[in-house]
Amino acid sequence: MVAKKYDRELGIRTTGLREWTNQSHYNRYEATPYQALETLFQSYTLKRHQRVVDFGCGRGRVTFYIHRRFKLPVVGIEAHDKTYEEALANKARYRVKARHITSPIVLKYGLAEDYKVKPEDTCFYFFNPFSDQVFKKVMANIVSSVERKPRTVDVILYYPLPEFKKVVRKYPFRKINKIRVPGAQDAREKFIIYRLEGKKHFDGEEQPLQ
Ligand SMILES: C[S@@+](CC[C@H](N)C(=O)[O-])C[C@H]1O[C@@H](n2cnc3c(N)ncnc32)[C@H](O)[C@@H]1O
Repeated sequence: MVAKKYDRELGIRTTGLREWTNQSHYNRYEATPYQALETLFQSYTLKRHQRVVDFGCGRGRVTFYIHRRFKLPVVGIEAHDKTYEEALANKARYRVKARHITSPIVLKYGLAEDYKVKPEDTCFYFFNPFSDQVFKKVMANIVSSVERKPRTVDVILYYPLPEFKKVVRKYPFRKINKIRVPGAQDAREKFIIYRLEGKKHFDGEEQPLQ
């Protein structure tokens, strides 16, 4: 299995699913397929100054994959206690293999909607972690952080649902790319990347007349 091979290379275990019990807003654990990540990062790249936040990081596949590929600081937030413990165990094993990569990996146990977005956070990844009501709160937190510290930030949606796209469209984000996963059976197996240029929208300076 391809996923197990990638997992072995990273020293992590991320295959499988985990359902929540009695939760209507929080979605189950399921990792973004590695082939999808390979496709995404063939056309989308992260720059040296960026810090990536994976909201609902699960066992950490995306977090560790990005850390190894781009050697950037990454943050993963996970609310399921057992899944979070597994992410921590993965981090310990991954760190043995990736000792040479000095950028920090921060894994936080808690709710995505309670995460205080930091000025250094510039890229936000979502693979359907929760309901659109929760997504609305998280997006409001991202945008108010950009208002406080104007900067360019990207939001990446994997398997984007119409309700999520509707939330993003409430803000002055621009769709910069749509990346389909080759050979996917389901048309929703794609990434949409949105960009918000905070300096243009929120830094309070008047725009010159055209
Ligand atoms: C579909 S998985 C995606 C995992 C990972 N981002 C990836 O793409 O491989 C969604 C994860 O979000 C977590 N989750 C759900 N609601 C959450 C919330 N409110 N805050 C943080 N994590 C949450 C779930 O427990 C699950 O592990």
